[in-house]
Amino acid sequence: MANDTLKQLLQILSDGEFHSGSDIGDKLQMTRAGVWKVVKQAEALGFHIKGVNRLGYQLQDGVSLLSTKAIQKYLTPTIKKQIACLEVFDSIDSTNNYLLQRIYEHSKIPRVVTAEQQANGRGRRGRKWHSPYAQNIYLSMLWSFDFNPSQLQGLSLAIGVATFKVLEKLSLPPHIYLKWPNDIYWKNKKLAGVLIETLGEFNNSMQIIIGIGLNVNMPATESLKISKKTTSLYQITKIIHDRNQLIAALINETLPCLKQLREQGIKPFLNFWKKHDMLIGKNVKLRYATKNVAGKVLGIDTHGNLKVQLNKHKTLSVCAGEVSLEI
Ligand code: BTN
Repeated sequence: MANDTLKQLLQILSDGEFHSGSDIGDKLQMTRAGVWKVVKQAEALGFHIKGVNRLGYQLQDGVSLLSTKAIQKYLTPTIKKQIACLEVFDSIDSTNNYLLQRIYEHSKIPRVVTAEQQANGRGRRGRKWHSPYAQNIYLSMLWSFDFNPSQLQGLSLAIGVATFKVLEKLSLPPHIYLKWPNDIYWKNKKLAGVLIETLGEFNNSMQIIIGIGLNVNMPATESLKISKKTTSLYQITKIIHDRNQLIAALINETLPCLKQLREQGIKPFLNFWKKHDMLIGKNVKLRYATKNVAGKVLGIDTHGNLKVQLNKHKTLSVCAGEVSLEI
């Protein structure tokens, strides 16, 4: 976790200008040698900071911190009008938890929240979601829907597709895939994950929290703290990406996808999924309920379940589970 001094340094440098060591020292109430140490800490986290004699320090690659204003700048006018509340936090427990605690504030739905870091970021199946400061995207959206529960599996695919479409526009090198139920992988390494949580009915509609974690500018050293099988946009492209712009793109893409799901059902998403499916035809291990099985993936069925051929005579369709490639 980033400490307060480090956050203050990044806030000072986030305007992209040079700031002298003594100016920064005055603001942080420390010596120039102390400033230098904090700069080194920031560099260890993957921030590129240029130090020039007599000019001071400058944050490279256009890294910027999150702000509602910057996100709004990239929202389409239609989406901007639809969103009732957009909040940006420096630090939060979990953006999904935040919305779970506010589901009955109906006047603020649709509601979007994002943060520079999460102290208790959550993944699917009770896992932790590593959420280092100012590197990635931790985004949650609260919507209220007149869906029936059978459409939930479709919702999961639709959000995976929406996230994929945003990344597709970045023209990443080949080998970006959708992995059931809604992960995004690049060359067998996880780039993004989605945690959808639903809550009871109110006025015949369901409260849905869509949490998206997208690894953006996280360096390889930080990824390794999670697993060797994690990557980020920066590691793929060697370019620092504007998180404000990407957050807006995720919001811009998600809303129309949800509208499309409501109007046309799961079919268009299944067609898209088929083209970018990482698992189809692959031998996998599957953990579902309390069982562990192995088989070959046949694809996704018309409800969004994963179909796995276990042997000549037996095929399984699961709505929830964890799949890993058998290598
Ligand atoms: C997974 O692949 O396991 C899902 C990861 C979801 C992480 C996101 S980050 C924003 C939101 N807040 C959380 O605590 N989790 C989701």
